[in-house]
Amino acid sequence: MSHDTTDHDTTGQGSTGRGPTSHDALRTDTSGATGYAVNAQYYDLIFPAAQRDAMRAALTTLLAGARRVVEIGSGTGQFTETLVANLPAGGEVFAVEPAPVMRAALTTRLAALGDPPVTVLPEEALTAEVDGPVDAVVALHVLTHFSPADRAALWDRWAPRLNPGGVVVVDVQAPQTPVAVPATTVPGRTLGRRRYDSVSEAAVDGDGLVWTVTYRVHEGDRLVSRESVSFPSFVVPDEVLHAELRGAGCEPVPEPPPGVLAWRANRSRPGVA
Ligand SMILES: C[S@@+](CC[C@H](N)C(=O)[O-])C[C@H]1O[C@@H](n2cnc3c(N)ncnc32)[C@H](O)[C@@H]1O
Repeated sequence: MSHDTTDHDTTGQGSTGRGPTSHDALRTDTSGATGYAVNAQYYDLIFPAAQRDAMRAALTTLLAGARRVVEIGSGTGQFTETLVANLPAGGEVFAVEPAPVMRAALTTRLAALGDPPVTVLPEEALTAEVDGPVDAVVALHVLTHFSPADRAALWDRWAPRLNPGGVVVVDVQAPQTPVAVPATTVPGRTLGRRRYDSVSEAAVDGDGLVWTVTYRVHEGDRLVSRESVSFPSFVVPDEVLHAELRGAGCEPVPEPPPGVLAWRANRSRPGVA
């Protein structure tokens, strides 16, 4: 499949504005200012339902009893909703989301819930602040934006804030090594007369990938529109994450639910007051 682009933001999620082939020079976009400008409108419509449901089930299992939860990169809030639903009385969620377009979807979703105990933080993960210790740090589908140095800073920032026994949850990264991924069509949802899907492919770029995702809108047999974004992606295998989190004072949760990795803060270490 060709790397089509549109007149819109063609560098897409987490882009620094450099070309998609300069992966080595790319770092996490910590501003969130331009990220997801194209993606946001399609996000919930093309997210695979089975994957969403598996993640929701995993959160429900792993975060049982967690009162204070930080979510890094809440996006449109499809998992924030689950975090809220599982809170015990008096619990609260801090939803960190730097991209304004995603945050718009997030706040709209949360507002529709009534008065959920969610504080939306427009900073990014390395600058967002929460007062006091937390019971869980959830980072789903966002590690792709973090370079190794930024991941180290991420764990340095959030692991010490975990109460003993507190949990870190991330999605299993795919692929686990920087290998090219052929164009793959992912069916999405229907809204009114129109059907949405996406075609994703990845090219190797140094020790990372550049993903190109084409969002397509169909009506009957007619292709109504298509627009593509390309964005750099950092690749990290499970064993590297295990080493990083162990270094941050957390032990892996044995046999985590499908689709996620999880760690718990060592009980011997003090939480942050
Ligand atoms: C692929 S979306 C995932 C959204 C949501 N977690 C989900 O799984 O549906 C990644 C989100 O992370 C956000 N993000 C990117 N860089 C970030 C950073 N440095 N700190 C916090 N969030 C970030 C993006 O703005 C985007 O909304």
